[in-house]
Amino acid sequence: MRQPFPPGFLWGCATSAYQIEGSPLADGAGVSNWHRFVRTPGRVHGGETGDVACDHYRRMKDDVALMRELGLKAYRFSIAWNRVLPDGRGRVNAAGLGFYERLVDELLAAGIQPMVTLHHWDLPAALDDRGGWLSPDMPDWFADYAQICFKALDDRVPLWVTLNEPWVVADGGFMHGVLAPGHKSAFEAAIVAHRLMQSHAKGVQAYRAVTRNSGRHKIGLVVNIEPKHLPPDASEADRHAARLADAYMNRQYLDPARLGSYPDELREVFGEAWPDWPAAEVEALQQPVDFLGLNYYTRAVVRHDVKAWPVPAAPQRQPGAIHTEMGWEVHPQSLADTLVWMHERYGGLPLYVTENGAAFYDPPSSIGGRIDDPLRVHYLRSHIAAVQDAMARGADMRGYFAWSLFDNLEWALGFAKRFGLVHVDFQTQQRTPKASARYYARVIASHGAQLD
Ligand code: BGC
Repeated sequence: MRQPFPPGFLWGCATSAYQIEGSPLADGAGVSNWHRFVRTPGRVHGGETGDVACDHYRRMKDDVALMRELGLKAYRFSIAWNRVLPDGRGRVNAAGLGFYERLVDELLAAGIQPMVTLHHWDLPAALDDRGGWLSPDMPDWFADYAQICFKALDDRVPLWVTLNEPWVVADGGFMHGVLAPGHKSAFEAAIVAHRLMQSHAKGVQAYRAVTRNSGRHKIGLVVNIEPKHLPPDASEADRHAARLADAYMNRQYLDPARLGSYPDELREVFGEAWPDWPAAEVEALQQPVDFLGLNYYTRAVVRHDVKAWPVPAAPQRQPGAIHTEMGWEVHPQSLADTLVWMHERYGGLPLYVTENGAAFYDPPSSIGGRIDDPLRVHYLRSHIAAVQDAMARGADMRGYFAWSLFDNLEWALGFAKRFGLVHVDFQTQQRTPKASARYYARVIASHGAQLD
């Protein structure tokens, strides 16, 4: 017997601003780092941009109607900081903020709870010009921006997220340079990681100040975790590499946020690039949050490999496993294990799966506009079952958000990777729910009692 989903468990979909909105400069918005990045030759697959994307900025009402039709109980989206504060700080652009106020109102009228992410990677370019995440002023800029959003929306938004996946911002943006702003420096990545966590902490403090601890609404942090597993014949070097990889990707952010310390292994990972942050500064990163969000896609089986950087651990493709279009192994068991690990290591907080999904090749829509995506249905079914397993093992699960509502701009990979439950024809902007969307609607209607 599976454990039923608790009353109030939220079923949702997630998106992010730059990936779906389009109209990046509309209504007085400032330029974002991503608006710049996509215009830098060679950075994004096929030179694609978020200029139109899913045109959600202009089709928001219809999109919320579609969410309602699917029966979503919650919707996780992000605010584009550059719409609210075109220069990153100072002057508020009421029209930009107004878009999110209308979105929230529309969602509430449709009976859908908003979960708002304050930062999902798109940053005002004006702040990048002042050092962006490298700047010691960033935590204050973030807290000021956050406070503006709280004041405008907290009367209607029950769930807030400070940052989406700080590891990806530091690793993709500053270590490997594959995401905006495209830098490649271990020295920078180490500093950025710290500034991100300081911003998270200051954002939480700002939230408590604005809401005066009313306890009505909640704030948390969203991280991506990818368990590092070993092959059966692992050597001591493999084991060591896996420990470093786990510290770098999985504990670098949650440890300071929840335990007030960085994992010791980071000294070895970063070497001379690791700054000796004052202990009091690191302890201050631990601000009480109300929940943690997990973005889970895959695990990695790793071996020691000196060519891998910054951690000498390289993923090994698993023969016989299903892999998504991203090359990621489908491994639902690791979702259950990760949730239980978070529950045990980080103090039994309420947990949400804030993203979970898969890019697969979707056959072109054929007879009657149907799009059958059996692999995505299988992915959803097995991962939702994994959430149930985690609950049975003690994790305090509060909700599940599929990534993503729509096919969208998969950052530097452009539009080629389709994660949507709803297919988007980027020529016509027609939305077509795939079989996975219909499947998910049935799961929601049965409150998870029917997964088959
Ligand atoms: C991000 C999304 C992204 C997804 C698939 C997550 O890392 O939060 O923005 O599209 O994974 O790669």
